[in-house]
Amino acid sequence: MKGTGEETVFTNALAGHRSARTPIWLMRQAGRYLPEYRAVRAKAGSFLDLCYAPALAAEVTLQPIRRFDFDAAIIFSDILVVPQALGMALRFEEGEGPRLDPVRDVRGVAALGLDRFEAILAPVYEAIGRVREALPRDKTLIGFAGAPWTLAAYAVEGQATREFQTARLWALKDPQGFGQFMDLLTEAVARHLIAQLRAGADAVQIFDSWAGVLSPELFGSWVIASTQLIVAKVREAMPHARIIGFPRGAGAHYARFAVETGVNGVSLDTTVVPEWAAAQIPASVTVQGNLDPLALVAGGAALERETRRILSAFRGRAHIFNLGHGIVPETPPEHVAEVVRLVREIGR
Ligand code: CP3
Repeated sequence: MKGTGEETVFTNALAGHRSARTPIWLMRQAGRYLPEYRAVRAKAGSFLDLCYAPALAAEVTLQPIRRFDFDAAIIFSDILVVPQALGMALRFEEGEGPRLDPVRDVRGVAALGLDRFEAILAPVYEAIGRVREALPRDKTLIGFAGAPWTLAAYAVEGQATREFQTARLWALKDPQGFGQFMDLLTEAVARHLIAQLRAGADAVQIFDSWAGVLSPELFGSWVIASTQLIVAKVREAMPHARIIGFPRGAGAHYARFAVETGVNGVSLDTTVVPEWAAAQIPASVTVQGNLDPLALVAGGAALERETRRILSAFRGRAHIFNLGHGIVPETPPEHVAEVVRLVREIGR
């Protein structure tokens, strides 16, 4: 493993220990709200060109670290590079989000494969190596992947939809066929996380952005069980791997997810009541979150009030401060500086 292997405030918190202060990073901390990101993005051409250009991806990963006193950087990439590396056509329509050529049956699954997987994703691993070298040793580098359910949801629909009904129906009507797709995605996600840890990532996060549209039964099979399997596969290769799960919208399932999957930390979405999570999630699992991204846009009293509430609910246990979902492009950078200042001041 090329990660520094050293304990930081962040890895210490993720190991379940209370630390001298609360570490902070923000989902989508590199992105369009920063003028310096927009400049590099314009130079790179498309968003995907930027993801696959190691020097530029490393540069935008480091931009928020130069500007703000975050405890961690997250590698600049996207969750949809995984289905792309399995052979799916992917494009980002300007202002409309991702588009994939849909996979809706086992024939579609059979056309995909892992033969060139790590070769296609090599620029991501190179960017990780570059960031780890440039990043101060007291900062953690986070790698990531989308969870199999969320990747399947985009792959089946071909784009984001409100309820992902086509994907859910396939899962219900043909669990075996859908299961074949999930097996492939699960293997791919595990391999992608292992390669990132080998390249220098100190921890990884699994984004299950659409976990919240599933019934309890489907949640059990396609969120809990697949995450369990990924955690087991990653730990088989890297026994000390530090893993955060983000089953966005999981509601009451968060408690089960925290206990059953084997992750070190759970990232709480904006809707989770912090006092509920503090009581329901075992102290051995670190909580991350969960400020409303819009409180960060609003700033002022709303930002201070919500930040204080979250910090006080999680005082006395291992907590990593974050948003409940990604930063939105309208966020004033000064508000990001302000939340870091607040967390440094109030978070013990
Ligand atoms: O957090 C970070 O700073 C690291 C980089 C990162 C991006 N996407 C960059 C990005 C991460 C961790 C992601 C994860 C991701 N990507 C998720 C899971 C988290 C979540 O938001 O639920 C999902 C669902 C995606 C898929 C995706 N990528 C969508 C739906 C979009 C379009 C929406 C949008 O904001 O335009 C993207 C594009 C994307 N990914 C951008 C960035 C900075 C914006 C692209 C641009 O510069 O035009």
